[in-house]
Amino acid sequence: MAVIAQKNPNIKVTVVDVNAKRIAAWNSEDLSQLPVFEPGLDDVIAEARNKNLFFSTDIDAAIDAADMIFTAVNTPTKSYGSGKGMAADLKHIELCARQIARVAKTDKIVVEKSTLPVRTAEALKSILDQTGNGVKFQILSNPEFLAEGTAVKDLQEPDRVLIGGETHTEEGREAIQALVDVYASWVPKDRIITTNVWSSELSKLTANAFLAQRISSINAMSELCEVTGADVHEVAHAIGQDSRIGPKFLKASVGFGGSCFQKDILNLVYIAKSYGLHEVADYWEQVIIMNNHQKTRFANNIVHTLYNTVSGKKITFLGWAFKKDTNDTRESAAIYVADALLEEQAEIVVYDPKVTAEQIYMDLDKQNSRSPEENRRLVTIVNDPYEACKSAHAIAILTEWDEFKLYDYSRIYKDMIKPAFIFDGRDILDMATLKAIGFETYCIGKGKEA
Ligand code: UDX
Repeated sequence: MAVIAQKNPNIKVTVVDVNAKRIAAWNSEDLSQLPVFEPGLDDVIAEARNKNLFFSTDIDAAIDAADMIFTAVNTPTKSYGSGKGMAADLKHIELCARQIARVAKTDKIVVEKSTLPVRTAEALKSILDQTGNGVKFQILSNPEFLAEGTAVKDLQEPDRVLIGGETHTEEGREAIQALVDVYASWVPKDRIITTNVWSSELSKLTANAFLAQRISSINAMSELCEVTGADVHEVAHAIGQDSRIGPKFLKASVGFGGSCFQKDILNLVYIAKSYGLHEVADYWEQVIIMNNHQKTRFANNIVHTLYNTVSGKKITFLGWAFKKDTNDTRESAAIYVADALLEEQAEIVVYDPKVTAEQIYMDLDKQNSRSPEENRRLVTIVNDPYEACKSAHAIAILTEWDEFKLYDYSRIYKDMIKPAFIFDGRDILDMATLKAIGFETYCIGKGKEA
């Protein structure tokens, strides 16, 4: 919404949330206090805030005044009842629709920004039409394709913008055009795609499933590379040169994380199952199974390499975020690897340039694997990477932060217990240099002989 405001000075954008603390943080004078760390976002906020971009907790007033309402509430995987662990929880989106219906006195366009299962717009429309005061609603689907860490750039120069609406009615086409006009102020027309609502909703799930599938595919090859002596980096480069395959999203890793991939694939699997399409469901579920295997395999490898016991050993995690340039930790591989090592009674020290200690403990506590006290006893969080590695038996790279490539590993090596191990789950360090220093090395997709 900040980018929409920045690019459309003539449109007044009001962002509302029930969480007063968050809204206060978005309004804070000190731009380093914004609730989301995202490169370049502070500049966009500084430019538009209190000119045509406002943050408020007065939800009713904003609904009343708006011509167009974007709903961007969270749709987590359901943690209860039917579809538990798979389906999207639509509780928040429904509450949102009911509030809009209750307050609206003039016709509105409601835009689904949250990623939703196919045919949610239908449910949304029926709630709006049947509980409203005779007001006319048009529902559009406008899924967001930005990736975290590059959000501002992805929004300013999107590969495409997707708008789904009621293409078969005049009112539907007018609503679509109204949203096209918002984006057209900075996005070239040929990058704005319009479709029917269901295509738009399903395209978002499909895009995430295809992207995640590429990572699981290369991660599957990473294990084969390690046992055969091939190098996954070389394999990825060689296949990526084929223009039909393309070079992006072929980086082997300790497993994908983030708020979207797992959730959206589970959602897709659930939808397929609910239509009785079991082969389709199994096909996509395998992407998740492979991803879980990759995280487990990385943790097991650490245990096996450290002479089959990590009990009482200190293992340093460099990185906790699910990828670099973000402080987001949702579904981060680090959480699962830590959990597996803690089961083996390892002591873990974490250094991440952007993630807070509070967040790390919260992530571990949410796993419910052991008591919060136990998590605090076994896991220490420090602000200095050299301090973090002191007296450690092993280092594990969990996030591909650029700064990890710049450290003085000779200095780090000196202060570690020997033999000193390094496990690169992100393929970012030069194994030859580390070996020359004295480290025992392992790199994902390259193995120990890298
Ligand atoms: C993703 C989609 O890219 C985006 O289009 C969608 O809107 C939301 O979900 P995001 O989760 O922010 O975005 O990050 P992304 O860059 O896609 O990375 C997801 C995970 O995959 C990260 O853990 C990342 O480290 C991992 N990854 C990515 C790999 O392991 N290898 C790769 O080659 C690329």
